[in-house]
Amino acid sequence: MSDKPSKTYTLTNNETGETYELPVLSGTTGPDVIDIRKLYAQADVFTYDPGFTSTASCDSEITYIDGDKGVLLHGGYPIEQLAENSDFMEVCYLLLNGELPTKDQKDEFVDIITHHTMIHDQMQFLFRGFRRDAHPMAIMVGVVGALSAFYHDQTDISDPERRMIAARQMIAKMPTIAAWAYKYSKGQPFVYPKNDLSFSANFLQMMFAVPCEEYVVNPVLEKAMDLIFILHADHEQNASTSTVRISGSSGANPFACISAGIACLWGPAHGGANEAVLKMLDEIGDVSRVDEFIARAKDKDDPFRLMGFGHRVYKNFDPRAKLLAKAAHEVLADLGVNNPQLELAMALEKIALEDEYFVARKLYPNVDFYSGIILKAMGFPTSMFTVLFAVARTVGWISQWKEMIEDPVHKISRPRQLYLGSTPRDFVEIDKR
Ligand code: SDX
Repeated sequence: MSDKPSKTYTLTNNETGETYELPVLSGTTGPDVIDIRKLYAQADVFTYDPGFTSTASCDSEITYIDGDKGVLLHGGYPIEQLAENSDFMEVCYLLLNGELPTKDQKDEFVDIITHHTMIHDQMQFLFRGFRRDAHPMAIMVGVVGALSAFYHDQTDISDPERRMIAARQMIAKMPTIAAWAYKYSKGQPFVYPKNDLSFSANFLQMMFAVPCEEYVVNPVLEKAMDLIFILHADHEQNASTSTVRISGSSGANPFACISAGIACLWGPAHGGANEAVLKMLDEIGDVSRVDEFIARAKDKDDPFRLMGFGHRVYKNFDPRAKLLAKAAHEVLADLGVNNPQLELAMALEKIALEDEYFVARKLYPNVDFYSGIILKAMGFPTSMFTVLFAVARTVGWISQWKEMIEDPVHKISRPRQLYLGSTPRDFVEIDKR
């Protein structure tokens, strides 16, 4: 970030005539920011931005989004090029280190991740504390948070090497915890990682293998899984990433911070939308009912929203949605699956994109609109969709956490408020109320 103010904004108090010069800071690309760090001290006022629609909470070098153009870059590389030419392990290395790895760097990184996929064997008893029908995201929040109990003492976040070790442990162990949450819900035995498989193939075998027979990884599913992980890896300062950053700003250990991110991601307005899209498509059932649901989505008195549509940042197509739509057709064709929900989703997308309400509000399909269709065709239950999002997003969360901790001027995040409550008043004894 350029610390030398390129220009300033002048704020004038129209009652007193006082003016305040606010420096403007410029990034390498994207909107400038008005530096208001000294505003409260100078003018005794706060800015007001619930939901942070116009607020930059930090500076970062990891991911850039241009919502108007539908651009998503990781380390400057367009998501389309990473999806086409890279794999999830390379993208993990890029997000953590800011550069694509050399062959040797990649081999070393993959070897380290591969050899950290097991979890402390005692953790298997944690799963047994949950009902078998517990939502797997509830298990993820609990078990990932419990990693703190196993690794807290080793996590000296002031030590760069310990931070990188924690980051790699998190990336490596999430697939195992996620697969075991699924196995527990199915009443099937846990399947241990296999070090001779790729990250994505290993996850699939932990999910779907059973002890009674050899599990052969379908290369179509392995490629689709890896693409889905790439497309969900990081996304700037979204709600769950901001949750991880705020949790980490107090010095909490990274495992607890990731657990907080998982909890935030679970919401249907965020990562829970992929599960909600499939439920919505099931509820719509047939193309003949699309108009009814489009009308409901537009009705302010109806809480129904078109799940998988709209985005705080993208006011154009989410580039990930385009890539997932293409992958959905390819995977379903490769698998020979005729999925009426894909046809329904395409019809819904076409009608919505021609409807003035959606056009005026620039509501386009987002990453969640097509992901669930592919995941369902791959054999995942809808309850696992957000869990997969969490497995992928862990590298984004932990990379952003690491960047925040390594910022020499980082401090605890502590927003203020506009107070609308009671002004001071004296206590009233209960018999006088
Ligand atoms: C993710 O931030 C990220 O980067 C998130 C994410 C990531 O990778 O981390 O990209 C992943 O979370 C994608 C979003 C998944 N969520 C959904 O698909 C849920 C459905 N979408 C919405 O609830 C909504 O669009 C949000 C939450 C995604 C964005 O909400 P905003 O930015 O707060 O916008 P808003 O709610 O103020 O909506 C603006 C207008 C409103 O109408 P008006 O008041 O102007 O008349 O658009 C309407 C909304 O009612 N609107 C919708 C709608 N989304 C917005 N109307 C119907 N259906 C929808 N889906």
